[in-house]
Amino acid sequence: MRIRHLPETLINQIAAGEVLERPAAAVKEMVENAIDAQSSQIEVRIENGGKSFIMITDNGRGMSRDDLSAALDRHATSKLPDDDLLNIGYLGFRGEALASIGAVARMQISSRERGADEAWSIFIEGGRKEDAEPSSLPEGTKIEVRDLFYATPARLKFQKSARAEYLAVKDVMLRLAMACPHVAFALVHDGKKVFDYPVADDAQSRLDEILGNEFGHNAMSIEAEREGILLRGHAGLPTYHRSNSMHQYLFVNGRPVRDKLLHGCVRAAYSDVLARDRHPVLALFLTLPPEQVDVNVHPAKTEVRFQDPGLVRGLIISALKHAIHDHGFAVTSTVSHAALDRLARPQNYGAPAMALPMHTGRHMSGGHAYSMQMPATNTIPEDKRGMAEDFYTSYTPQMGWDSEIEPSARADMQTEDPQALLDNPEHFPLGAARAQLHENYIIAQTPNGMVVVDQHAAHERLVYEKFKKQMQRDGIIKQGMLTPEIIELEESECIRLLEHQDTFEQVGLEIDAFGSDAIAVHAIPVLLGDKPKLKALMEKLAHEVTESGTAQGVEERLNQILSTMACHGSIRSGRRMNTHEMNALLRDMEKTPLSGQCNHGRPTYVTLSLSEIETLFGRK
Ligand SMILES: Nc1ncnc2c1ncn2[C@@H]1O[C@H](COP(=O)(O)OP(=O)(O)OP(=O)(O)O)[C@@H](O)[C@H]1O
Ligand SMILES: [Mg+2]
Repeated sequence: MRIRHLPETLINQIAAGEVLERPAAAVKEMVENAIDAQSSQIEVRIENGGKSFIMITDNGRGMSRDDLSAALDRHATSKLPDDDLLNIGYLGFRGEALASIGAVARMQISSRERGADEAWSIFIEGGRKEDAEPSSLPEGTKIEVRDLFYATPARLKFQKSARAEYLAVKDVMLRLAMACPHVAFALVHDGKKVFDYPVADDAQSRLDEILGNEFGHNAMSIEAEREGILLRGHAGLPTYHRSNSMHQYLFVNGRPVRDKLLHGCVRAAYSDVLARDRHPVLALFLTLPPEQVDVNVHPAKTEVRFQDPGLVRGLIISALKHAIHDHGFAVTSTVSHAALDRLARPQNYGAPAMALPMHTGRHMSGGHAYSMQMPATNTIPEDKRGMAEDFYTSYTPQMGWDSEIEPSARADMQTEDPQALLDNPEHFPLGAARAQLHENYIIAQTPNGMVVVDQHAAHERLVYEKFKKQMQRDGIIKQGMLTPEIIELEESECIRLLEHQDTFEQVGLEIDAFGSDAIAVHAIPVLLGDKPKLKALMEKLAHEVTESGTAQGVEERLNQILSTMACHGSIRSGRRMNTHEMNALLRDMEKTPLSGQCNHGRPTYVTLSLSEIETLFGRK
């Protein structure tokens, strides 16, 4: 077999295969070109998800006759005037997008350079370029692409449905629209207008327009700087989450990216407050000196490489974590509004298991700032120590945070007088406990409404935060078993657990082999209470250590174990509590970081204001 040099058309088709994965990639390249050409208005029309037709019109700088012809050649670009790949000032720089599209489709480009009297048009089909011809067009460029991938049947075969391609086109355009607020963007699919964003004043207004008020009401603003690297944007509250990471919009120096490092940062930052299969919504813009980031690592330019990945990682994680902590007491408003809508419909009255509405708790942000104190164990009268006793055993002064509470604040915090609680909403935003329903929901009265607390979710968060606090101080406080508890498990589960024996020891869980299909538990964390369901806990832990493998950092892994233990150690639903105990739980929530959500991102409480109640009854 002889080596031969491939013909130009084949080279271009191979290159096109890398750059153009699907119609959305072609749209992305052409819209980026329009942005680079300083357009203030870009319109995209597609048919059949872009598979059969794409037309992009812009009012940018346009091209002369010669440039129009050169634009279709590979490695021909106007965007690297200084041959400097470290200082890239445009979205494009490879000089191959148009050549690639021309290699696999039928493409007509018409353009009129700014200030010129005439327009020119050129046609290319399967890599064969024709001569430019005079045309008529206002200043700007219009590109029509038909039958994408007709020249590469293999790629054509793997196209997804028109709907999937349409959604991908829309996603690509939304990301570019967020990155360029000063450009108007419109998308029309099969003759129907999808969106039409006018020129926006700033990134914030564009974001509001695209993500809607709902996101605005459920987002924390992010702003941080470290060594010349700037991070800005908005990140959703942990209780406002989605089933995939599609709604994470990340930008590096104005370029939309899908970067593993950045997604990893987001996951790490929310790991404490979200279940692993849930994803926050966010839009983050990272700005750093161009020489510190390499954008030339991916043919489609969607991944980047940082000179100092550790610095970037640290900045993003700490900025997000700080915001999450500052809003620890806040809860998303979406659930409430949806529920309120349902409640307000008469046919739903009396429907079982109806969620109670709430409104946003954002104004009560910074739960950890409240300096509250829950009653110490010894203040519970003997006769009141009932079913929730082991709940209280976790509230001993050594383990709680009593010592951090200023003495001056103590006097008024001891109160259980409902009126005193209601008179001091700034100290007691969760109000006075009035009742417990279905042995899991605490109803509390506040000066202007009511609060419903999910006692299991709330307690889970409290126990988790206590675990972490202990961990930071002197390690998890554990108690030895009088006789080891033997837990029968599957052999594979035993092996997995024993592989992580040392890790478990760090969190106060001492285990040992006991035959091949059982383990012996010698000690457990005190916070787990007297009779934790160890079998269920061990099974869960065995499952988790395999799932996460070694991908997690040490801290992330320990926190995940603590979170699982907290879940199993918390008061399950079905535990009756008296008023005293309920008030103690409310006070503890008020002073606990992140108490607005459980470890899985579910809200721990919802609020219903008097005006909402009045709306429900048609009084307003
Ligand atoms: N809409 C447009 N308006 C004005 N000039 C354009 C437009 N589209 C393309 N061009 C010109 O054509 C050239 C080639 O475009 P092409 O997209 O192939 O390469 P590029 O943008 O330079 O780099 P990349 O391959 O990374 O996108 C550009 O450098 C630019 O000068
Ligand atoms: Mg380009």
